[in-house]
Amino acid sequence: MIFLGVNIDHCATVRQARYREAAGAEGGAVEPDPVEFALASEHAGADGITVHLREDRRHIQERDVWRLREQIATRLNLEMACTPAMIAFALKLQPDFVCVVPENRTEVTTEGGLDVVGNRDRVRACVDAMNAAGIKTSLFIDPDAPQIELSAQLGAPFVELHTGAYANAYFTPARAAEYQRLRLGCLRAHESGLTVNAGHGINYLNIAEVRTLPHLHELNIGHSIVSRALFTGVAEAVREMKTRMNP
Ligand code: PXP
Repeated sequence: MIFLGVNIDHCATVRQARYREAAGAEGGAVEPDPVEFALASEHAGADGITVHLREDRRHIQERDVWRLREQIATRLNLEMACTPAMIAFALKLQPDFVCVVPENRTEVTTEGGLDVVGNRDRVRACVDAMNAAGIKTSLFIDPDAPQIELSAQLGAPFVELHTGAYANAYFTPARAAEYQRLRLGCLRAHESGLTVNAGHGINYLNIAEVRTLPHLHELNIGHSIVSRALFTGVAEAVREMKTRMNP
């Protein structure tokens, strides 16, 4: 059974498109409410809720995260940059998981994952702080051996392998090679003692192949679910994805 974390960032993107000023306000009649999206996702079988509190606050706001912490019944996964401000925020919030993602150019590998190798000391400080607080850390990395091995050495219990390059190559001849790269990444991460999550660019079509990757624990999926929910409603969008993940 592969678990589903529903990333609700793009529900907040739609809200911010209209209510940039009011979204943080108490009691504002702003829509769509990402917390409502999260609760509907849980009701339909989501195993967790994922949000990325970006430094530029372009979609999810701090108030959303605190409301989620109070209201959701499953697990809260906070995606965050590896910065002192976000580490302090996570220690206050106490999410079930943090997923460390790159936000500025120096932290990004060529494919877009966190460059753990190039930011070793900063990533180590973050993992140590989270481990000490009992918050499980995942590092969002490309499926490449040096990044995977260092993630394990730094004591992160999870990695989330970046499926974006595979998703982008889906309709090209490069797809098979990207799939193989992910497959080897999953095997290596598992052998290194890491629990293997994956995410980015997963949709209702490519899930048929993504789900065959070995040792997958959880997939974090956002854009495709939020998009489909516009037509089918949240419950149907979440149920359909879960069924395709675990037919
Ligand atoms: N996992 C991580 C670490 C992410 O940053 C994101 C959002 O970019 C996702 C998963 C979800 O990606 P998508 O919205 O393409 O499903």
